[in-house]
Amino acid sequence: MMQNLSMHVLDIASNSVRAEATDLHIIMINSTCKDLISIEVIDNGKGMDEEMIQRVQDPFFTSRTTRRIGLGIPFFKELAEACNGSFELESQVNVGTRIYVSMQKSHWDTPPLGDLGDAVVLVWCQKETNHIHFDYKTDANQFSFDSDEIKAILGDEVSVCEAEIMMWCKDYINQQIQVCEEEQV
Ligand SMILES: Nc1ncnc2c1ncn2[C@@H]1O[C@H](COP(=O)(O)OP(=O)(O)OP(=O)(O)O)[C@@H](O)[C@H]1O
Ligand SMILES: [Mg+2]
Repeated sequence: MMQNLSMHVLDIASNSVRAEATDLHIIMINSTCKDLISIEVIDNGKGMDEEMIQRVQDPFFTSRTTRRIGLGIPFFKELAEACNGSFELESQVNVGTRIYVSMQKSHWDTPPLGDLGDAVVLVWCQKETNHIHFDYKTDANQFSFDSDEIKAILGDEVSVCEAEIMMWCKDYINQQIQVCEEEQV
């Protein structure tokens, strides 16, 4: 089992990268008022057909097929349902995929957020030319990270996959999340 939500974010968004998405939108809501944590990942990757949409949600699908089907999606779905939440998977071939997962924030089994900055940066570094947009929303605040904005600052010569730049982005994202949390009333 994955110990925190950032690992699920990493898994779901890595699926998008593997599905050749070039545009990824990750939206996280952390609301005390609504007693809700939600994670949404929207991509413009190759998508899945109806049959595939059903199959990837089934944890028993793995056994003896031509290819291995992983457990990232079934685990996340199971977690959401165990935490009084919901799971939605919408996808269209050659258009893209949207995964939405919600959990009751105060539920005993809802995992901690983990290192979201790390997850976002690791997703970006899987393909530097991808556009990644990350939104983090609390009841009173909102923070957005956009890979294009960082690229505009860094210029063409610098790679986001260089250790110092990665560290900077990761710390920046985590600090901004912290600011959103601290300003909550
Ligand atoms: N965003 C997506 N776009 C297109 N296909 C996807 C997407 N997400 C998942 N899939 C398909 O669903 C399958 C199952 O995904 P899942 O995350 O459950 O397992 P996995 O990525 O194969 O393995 P792992 O256990 O390492 O996560 C993927 O292998 C892929 O074929
Ligand atoms: Mg996966």
